[in-house]
Amino acid sequence: MDPVGFGVIGCSSIARRRFIPALRRSPHRLVAVASRSAERAAAFGAEFGADAVTGYEALLRRDDVEAVYVSVPTGLHRRWAEAALRAGKHVLVEKPLATSPEDAEAVFAAAGGLVVAENRMFAEHPQHAEVAALVAGGAIGELRVVTAGMAVPPLPPSDVRHRADLGGGALLDVGYYPLHAALLFDDFSAVAAVSRAGSGVDTEGTALLLAPSGATAQVVYGFRHGYRSFYELWGSRGRIVLERAFTPPEDFAPVLRLERQEGVELRTLPAADQFRLALERFARFVRGTADPAPHRERTLRGLALLARVRELGGQARLDYSAGASSASVAVRVAPGGPAGVHAEPSRV
Ligand SMILES: NC(=O)c1ccc[n+]([C@@H]2O[C@H](COP(=O)([O-])OP(=O)(O)OC[C@H]3O[C@@H](n4cnc5c(N)ncnc54)[C@H](OP(=O)(O)O)[C@@H]3O)[C@@H](O)[C@H]2O)c1
Repeated sequence: MDPVGFGVIGCSSIARRRFIPALRRSPHRLVAVASRSAERAAAFGAEFGADAVTGYEALLRRDDVEAVYVSVPTGLHRRWAEAALRAGKHVLVEKPLATSPEDAEAVFAAAGGLVVAENRMFAEHPQHAEVAALVAGGAIGELRVVTAGMAVPPLPPSDVRHRADLGGGALLDVGYYPLHAALLFDDFSAVAAVSRAGSGVDTEGTALLLAPSGATAQVVYGFRHGYRSFYELWGSRGRIVLERAFTPPEDFAPVLRLERQEGVELRTLPAADQFRLALERFARFVRGTADPAPHRERTLRGLALLARVRELGGQARLDYSAGASSASVAVRVAPGGPAGVHAEPSRV
């Protein structure tokens, strides 16, 4: 495959820690980095041996940049993805691709013959296919419940995730992972959610999901917790637990715990470089050797699920600063399954 030449928009933490190092481990090339600040661009460029460009538009004017990696704050993804497409560049956008399914639809609609993809790195790790194969092979019987969560300790006040105007908040940031993880295992929809409001953004939440199979999922996310990143699948015959499920470094060998009547088995899985795998998948989309349609559909499905959780969480939002101390949400599943689901906040 011809190497893809990348330009980077925004000298972000994720570009420095994950994307650019993964790019250097791949056959593809870093051409230039752009920042709003000349000093930051120069420092980043020097660190990674790339041209430094001041201003994102200037990077988009370069002919030697074939694809652009956008890792500005989430609320600016749509703007810069559309600008990159107008400039004739393929675009890989950090997760989530946009703050709403409508914005993501607009970006995809603007693509024409160019490729737009969301950098959903966690999903590239082969550990999830391993888990799915175990479930499909009946290792835990019929899937009954998915429990998934991602949460991190409080972020510094300066972090962009505290800025509502930049698409901040826990749901779009960390909630994204366990909600997408649930979709790996069944066709879940949200039926109830609780969200806590912080200083201008949501800071934690819990959602209850339901699939047509009757399986349920409990999803937890937040900015106020000890770090955790996990999921558990609980079936009619046993359960599978995967810790550090969403951000394993490339040299980390995941340990899958399979617990059944006959005993507990710990399976060490091969380490994998999900950061490089994600950008190599994008490069295959660009070179036309992989079909981007399923990836696009999952991106939109994920954003629709996030939007529904936000809507339900908004109905049952707890604002502790206003003195509220509890809330409950009643969900009744009618006989016949999810089609008869009735969910409403009973007391907020
Ligand atoms: N896939 C993953 O695993 C993963 C992990 C972490 C984050 N992310 C995503 O990556 C994105 C960036 O996250 P991050 O933690 O890397 O953020 P960050 O370190 O704060 O970087 C954001 C960058 O955006 C640029 N920017 C443009 N307009 C800005 C504005 N008005 N205010 C602040 N910065 C602005 C800045 O670059 P210049 O100053 O150089 O222009 C800044 O360095 C988010 O969408 C996040 O969800 C993905």
